[in-house]
Amino acid sequence: MRLVKCFLVTLILSAPAAQAFSAYAPDFDRGVDIKLAIQAAIESATSAGGLLPAAREAAVWVSLEKADAGALDATLFKRAPLAANQKIAIYEVDPADLAQLSDGMQRAFKRAPGFFAHDTLEAALEDLKAPPSVPARAYTLDQADRVKEMLARVKEESIISVIASLSAYKNRYYTSATGVDSSKWLQQLWGKFAEGRSDISVAAYKHASFAQESVILTMRGTTEPEKVIVIGGHLDCVAGGAENPAPGADDNASGVAVTHEIIRTIVESGYRPSKTIKFIAFAAEEVGLRGSGDIAAAFKKQGVAVEGMLNLDMANYKGSPLDIYFVSDNTSADQNAFLGKLIDTYTSYKWGSFKCGYGCSDHASWTKNGFAASLPFESTFTQYNPYIHKATDTLDKTGGRAEHAFKFARLGVAYAVELAK
Ligand code: BES
Ligand code: ZN
Repeated sequence: MRLVKCFLVTLILSAPAAQAFSAYAPDFDRGVDIKLAIQAAIESATSAGGLLPAAREAAVWVSLEKADAGALDATLFKRAPLAANQKIAIYEVDPADLAQLSDGMQRAFKRAPGFFAHDTLEAALEDLKAPPSVPARAYTLDQADRVKEMLARVKEESIISVIASLSAYKNRYYTSATGVDSSKWLQQLWGKFAEGRSDISVAAYKHASFAQESVILTMRGTTEPEKVIVIGGHLDCVAGGAENPAPGADDNASGVAVTHEIIRTIVESGYRPSKTIKFIAFAAEEVGLRGSGDIAAAFKKQGVAVEGMLNLDMANYKGSPLDIYFVSDNTSADQNAFLGKLIDTYTSYKWGSFKCGYGCSDHASWTKNGFAASLPFESTFTQYNPYIHKATDTLDKTGGRAEHAFKFARLGVAYAVELAK
């Protein structure tokens, strides 16, 4: 309780500063010499700990906005950062403290910290650079017959069944045995889509620093396979740590179930996209976007031509009057407009938008690496599911139904067909 009060005082004192901070556009210090910064930070870490960062498996490096570090009542950020520019600061933290960062206390005060966690200091320091800009592209809508035929195949029941299976695990925390098991279960489930289809493959994406694997189903494009569309959401969930029950039915079994339903609909219809679609269930989102961070950085490094990324994170709780809300920061304005047009053209749903104010989910990893990403979300930022990150994030909170998530699956199918054509 004392901790809570103390946090509240810190929060109140820092609120005006935080508000003023969020009012201005990203101002990356282009003058920062990254090589020098890396060297200086490695030297300071080496002299402090007597070990090179790479040899210390027990550490993780996070980048976050300076204002967030200041606003948090976390001993984690009471010391000087290892490196910083005008906006972002880099700290070394114990992985055991990561859950605390995305946990209920900060969220209860509506000032959650956005942060990226990295395996190495070098990777964290990359966040001090300005993100690459997303190249402009043309969006067209001309697949009406096919989209309509496919939208009729989307089923609420199949979404419900995936949410029920995933939320039956005690938790899907990124380091727990059940977190690992839930990923293996999904690999098996998605593996069935590959049976008898040489153009579909399913693979585990292993992460260097934690046990939970991301899952990737690849649907190879028929005529332009080198162009890639990414659709997915995070598989993990959190309610305090590895030991605590965390069903994560809405955050984010719902997003994985929507992803599953988009795959199922496409496969059942027999549709074969011209471009490649990669459906991904990301590991370790709740502890600093770690799974998507690894994958998006690897894709950029390998020069994968990602033409668009659709992040599905929280889709089944209707807390606001409209049907779908687009997160307008750390996303692509052009792709968001395209998604709005898809909704207007193919559905009767109503949509709006809001800002998270920080990189609140996996889309931020893709944006940071120069790809066009979007997050269609279940509600406004103040009316989302109040049970997330708790043992009470269960399917019964939505009456055992997936009516709301169903809309996101239909949007996802339209997106896949109109973008991967
Ligand atoms: N699903 C949430 C993101 C979210 C919650 C967006 C509420 C909008 C409204 C996600 O799983 C999450 O919890 N993200 C963390 C940040 C992340 C960098 C650890 C958060 O918002 O605290
Ligand atoms: Zn979450």
